[in-house]
Amino acid sequence: MATESERAIDHRAVGELWDENAEAWTTLTRLGYDKYRDHINTPAFLDMLPDVDGLRGLDVGCGEGHNTRLVAQRGARLTALDISGRFVRYAREQEARDHHGIVYLRASAVALPFADAAFDFAMATMSMMDVPDQGRAIREAARVLRPGGFFQFSILHPCFMTPRFKWVLDENGQRVAMECGDYFHQEQGAIEEWIFGSAPDELKERFEKFRIPRFFHTLSTWLNMLTAADLILEDSAEPYASDESIAIHPKLASTRVIACFLHLRCRKPTA
Ligand SMILES: C[S@@+](CC[C@H](N)C(=O)[O-])C[C@H]1O[C@@H](n2cnc3c(N)ncnc32)[C@H](O)[C@@H]1O
Repeated sequence: MATESERAIDHRAVGELWDENAEAWTTLTRLGYDKYRDHINTPAFLDMLPDVDGLRGLDVGCGEGHNTRLVAQRGARLTALDISGRFVRYAREQEARDHHGIVYLRASAVALPFADAAFDFAMATMSMMDVPDQGRAIREAARVLRPGGFFQFSILHPCFMTPRFKWVLDENGQRVAMECGDYFHQEQGAIEEWIFGSAPDELKERFEKFRIPRFFHTLSTWLNMLTAADLILEDSAEPYASDESIAIHPKLASTRVIACFLHLRCRKPTA
């Protein structure tokens, strides 16, 4: 059952906030300022992804479609959706310029407009922790998978990216540890404000900070949501920056202090 704060900020309200974020997010990510995505999360996600050539896939919470396009380049026939109409517009405009055969639509992860077993796989990159009622979204992803299909998703790591966290710095200002708390507090819909730190100041000043509602769950809750959807966990990763990436972007070294991200792949049983 939804909590008070989940009722206060439902998936439509989340979509309105992401609509406001969409222009800055699309501009800054397309200019290469999402270093965590480009150097860590997307390479790790693609490393874990099984062969998708010729498969029907669904991308849930696709944003402006960067990762959708990369998976389409591996031969998948993709449908992609997002709750933010503005993100869907940017994704469609890019599809018109650079054709990948991707069908984009505005829809919510919690009520997928597809028949049961319509897809061979589903994916969600860094979107599931932004969806209110993730249990329902995971059940929906499982429902639209054919038996034997897989669902792979990445999220902020629930054990460390807790409602209350703070980097501990050494005498040189390097991040060497993290204080984290409120792990069991699980306040739903709290809004975080930030912008990509690597973007130059003149660009950061051009845009408002992102306002992102977060929906926290403990690790056991995430795993139990998969089990409740009859999905079987088959692979996991906690990716961090490579030596090469850190040489170019030293700030990425903090991803080796604690696990910032969690990637999971699970499968719908055939029987
Ligand atoms: C951090 S962005 C990630 C976007 C993209 N997948 C990527 O990796 O760049 C999170 C996305 O989740 C979307 N989102 C949040 N709630 C959603 C919902 N209920 N249904 C579909 N998309 C949702 C947001 O609009 C936003 O585009």
